[in-house]
Amino acid sequence: MAGDRWFASDNNAAAHPRIMEALVRANAGHAIGYGDDPVTAGAENAVAALFGPGATVRFVLNGTGANVYALGCFAHGGDAILCSDCAHILVDETGAPSAVTGAQLVPMATKDGKVSVAALEATLRHYDDMHKARPAALSLSQPTELGTVYGRAELAELCRVAHASGLVVQIDGARLSNAAVALGVGVAEAAGYVTTTGSSPAGADVVCFGGTKNGLMFGEAVIFAPRADGSLPDTARLRKTRLQLSSKMRFIAAQFDEYVRDGLWRECATASNRQAARLVAGLSARGLRLEYPAQTNAAFVKIPARVTEELRAKRFFYDWEGGAVRWMASWDTTDSDVDGFLADLDAALASYRAANPDTPDPKLAAEESALIASGRAFLKSNWDQLERFKSPQKQGVPVPPFVRPIPAAATVVKLPDPSASGLGGKSFSDVTAGRRSRRKYKIEPLSLNELSFLLWASSGVKAVKNENAFRTVPSGGCRHPFDTMLYARRVTGLQPGLYRFMPVEHSLALLKAASVVSGADTDKNGWLDLDQEMDTGLSGQLWNCAAMFVWTVVPFRTEWRYTVAAAKTILIDAGHVCQALYGACEALGLGTCGQAAYDQEKLDAALGVDGTDEFAVYAAPVGRV
Ligand SMILES: Cc1cc2nc3c(=O)[nH]c(=O)nc-3n(C[C@H](O)[C@H](O)[C@H](O)COP(=O)(O)O)c2cc1C
Repeated sequence: MAGDRWFASDNNAAAHPRIMEALVRANAGHAIGYGDDPVTAGAENAVAALFGPGATVRFVLNGTGANVYALGCFAHGGDAILCSDCAHILVDETGAPSAVTGAQLVPMATKDGKVSVAALEATLRHYDDMHKARPAALSLSQPTELGTVYGRAELAELCRVAHASGLVVQIDGARLSNAAVALGVGVAEAAGYVTTTGSSPAGADVVCFGGTKNGLMFGEAVIFAPRADGSLPDTARLRKTRLQLSSKMRFIAAQFDEYVRDGLWRECATASNRQAARLVAGLSARGLRLEYPAQTNAAFVKIPARVTEELRAKRFFYDWEGGAVRWMASWDTTDSDVDGFLADLDAALASYRAANPDTPDPKLAAEESALIASGRAFLKSNWDQLERFKSPQKQGVPVPPFVRPIPAAATVVKLPDPSASGLGGKSFSDVTAGRRSRRKYKIEPLSLNELSFLLWASSGVKAVKNENAFRTVPSGGCRHPFDTMLYARRVTGLQPGLYRFMPVEHSLALLKAASVVSGADTDKNGWLDLDQEMDTGLSGQLWNCAAMFVWTVVPFRTEWRYTVAAAKTILIDAGHVCQALYGACEALGLGTCGQAAYDQEKLDAALGVDGTDEFAVYAAPVGRV
């Protein structure tokens, strides 16, 4: 319908009113044809001024024509043109580049639509063979077909590698203005074009600078970098042989003149990129995930076919390769266009959900994948990040104490010497072979010697040197970020209750005494008055153990040195501690089981820790088996 706007393509948009006025102005009197008119001369100079001295500007009729003409100046029958596997010249130009130039298109694998230097180098190596077509040109789209943008350094490196093998570099810049706005530079810089000082171009050799998708009625400009050695072919004649010489050239020229003189190209592309960003924000708020980073004016998403159908009945758009749909903002897209589109999308999603009630909520699914992604990022080495942040250690912050002080007025119980008890003589191979998680415990208590041995084996301090405590277990940077909280339930000679293990003194400090609940069954959780709170914190996993080990972390001990890389190191440390407890239990004929499935807030509350500077990370019940 006249006046409607949608998100199918920036190619579907009307021409900008200023372009229409420029056409009307040019539509006066007679002008010499084929570009020999003053309007064309002025426009060529205005476009060339964006690219620097020596640039040759040729206006052409359309985008495919621009690419075929530009490439055909350098690539011929028997040559190869290297391009991305989703390049417009490969998938959307009806084979014209090969049909017209005779050159073979060689697609290269891409990530997010971008060719990497490694892929280019591999292709060049593979084609360094007399049985293969001679690589004559590298064609890159800026932005890519997927709306992503090459950084200036990436383009410079691709040009360097291509030139080193004798290829020219052509830029398909049908939406070059959008890339320039995204990068915050001019169109020449966005195209990797470098004002030539030597005999051959240092950057892109030929740039197709689009107008049609960004406010023009029709027309593109092809800009050739100068070649002082005279190796630039006869671009004027070649334009005609490629059927791209417009006889009424003044009408393309008048549009380009208006487009470049005071930055209309930038104004239009800024508007379309901005509206695409609004659209993308709306999609993210609805939990729809983008297939590629939205860097210019396009968004690609996968939605159920029924949603596509219902939405498309209201506003036309295209399906894309790989099952996604493409939505694209244009220079004339308005805020209310975006809001209206999102409202239609909401309606289509709502009717889809009503028909498919079991479909996971996409917002929740997006939240889940974001959390999984951040979890994966956490699992990777963050060591390179340490360069960016100055650690408290490097800032001269004093080293935090490696143990908490003994709580004031706490009753302290000295544990027996673990090496004097003679416990733990079982062979390493027997311990290793016998270890398994054990979740059922006998009612018989642990002895104090056994408890002492378990605490020593899992967290005992062997020596203190230069403010570092060396323990029975390893720890990244010798930071030892854990304290052991011990909930003693049945240990002969020990008052039941919650204790903090003091590893240097090899003692237990009583934090909260527990009392036997009168009439309670000793074979059940609930025997002691603290059981319920602990059992709830452990999500019902107290399991009537004889003693519960809970390791709390004091993160700053590790962050002091490793800042953003601390969290991963801390969790690796936790594994060592619990594995040591497993081994020690096995050596004593006791059983344990690592527990991560606890309730963070409730367990922290039961332990009396603040949940920020100290909180539980891991637990393990122990009992006789
Ligand atoms: C990090 C970690 C967390 C665990 N959390 C729990 C838990 O919360 N509850 C539980 O019953 N078992 C838990 N386990 C025990 C595992 O289920 C057990 O190690 C696994 O099934 C293999 O059995 P095995 O230890 O006998 O070889 C955990 C083990 C590890 C290493």
